[in-house]
Amino acid sequence: MKNLDIVPFIFEDERLILLDQTKLPNEESFLEIKGAEDLWDAIYHLKVRGAPAIGVAAAYGLYVVAKGLDLESCSGAEFAEKVKEKAKYINGARPTAVNLSWALKRMVKVALADVNLSPKSILAKLLKEAESIHREDVEACVKMGEFGLSLLEKNMGILTHCNAGTIATSKYGTCLAPIHLGQEKGYDFKIFADETRPLLQGARLTAWELNKAGVDVTLICDNMANTVMKKGWIQAVVVGCDRMAANGDGANKIGTSQVAILAKEHGIPFYMFVPTSTIDLETACGDDIEIELRKGEEIYQMWYEKEMAPSGIKTFNPSFDVTDNKYITAVITEKGIVRPPYDVNLRKLLDSEK
Ligand code: MRU
Repeated sequence: MKNLDIVPFIFEDERLILLDQTKLPNEESFLEIKGAEDLWDAIYHLKVRGAPAIGVAAAYGLYVVAKGLDLESCSGAEFAEKVKEKAKYINGARPTAVNLSWALKRMVKVALADVNLSPKSILAKLLKEAESIHREDVEACVKMGEFGLSLLEKNMGILTHCNAGTIATSKYGTCLAPIHLGQEKGYDFKIFADETRPLLQGARLTAWELNKAGVDVTLICDNMANTVMKKGWIQAVVVGCDRMAANGDGANKIGTSQVAILAKEHGIPFYMFVPTSTIDLETACGDDIEIELRKGEEIYQMWYEKEMAPSGIKTFNPSFDVTDNKYITAVITEKGIVRPPYDVNLRKLLDSEK
């Protein structure tokens, strides 16, 4: 996927620079992460977003934070404890995407592995770990692109929800990776992007990303999915995932589960793209996944000049919902395509890695 030069972050000369996704599509501006508070704020406000991108940015960010600690006057054990504390704080920014805690846990494990080392030596190991997390994510996206494309055919109409594209990962995306790959190979997909209220990741990010890559993309409101399916314009649905439980229930952007139910009704395959870093076998089923609740202003104020609801209105603004495993035709991972029964086959896939 040579044409894809858009990335959500750059780690260069020991500096972590994020593409501020809240400014897209009107402005491509960048911000530097200098401390734990910057990182927390960037994750909470979705300046960096998308489960894998959050995980990798958090790993590099924790390295930057650790580098800023006093390396001279503390022991390796004290340094590792401080890194652990910072990781705990950063982890509190968003609860649903498991990649955040997954990446931070990996970093903390490295920090604590040998506390007899000097802080500088531990720091060097932290950088290596962040680089591995980054490299593995790029490789996973490439593989998901290939596996995903094997399920799709030329000229298909494909609906997607939210943004699980190149800016939601280190590069290429999860569910948009096969779209980008197909674009290179002349598949002529017709993509329908749900706008994805309330934060408009579909309109602001997916439409922007695909448009920039020259893909044929049509923006629709979330409540138009049934209409385009009924018209026969959709042959597959592709979405990302923020956390998949052991039984194959998958949390993703709010509204995903409705699309899945519609797809089943219309006999359209519903594919969820889930890197193994997003599979959480410690969570038994979807009911056990913590769903992030966000402020009501995102619904009635954020994108409008004037408030678009009566003053003081009550709101309910969950950021994600869970798609029951029975609606998921296949789970696409970097290790292969998983089919039901997910409670058996996801575990088998992860066990085969060991
Ligand atoms: O709130 P967001 O924008 O971080 O939500 C993103 C999604 O729901 C994505 O589909 C998911 O993180 C997968 S990204 C490859």
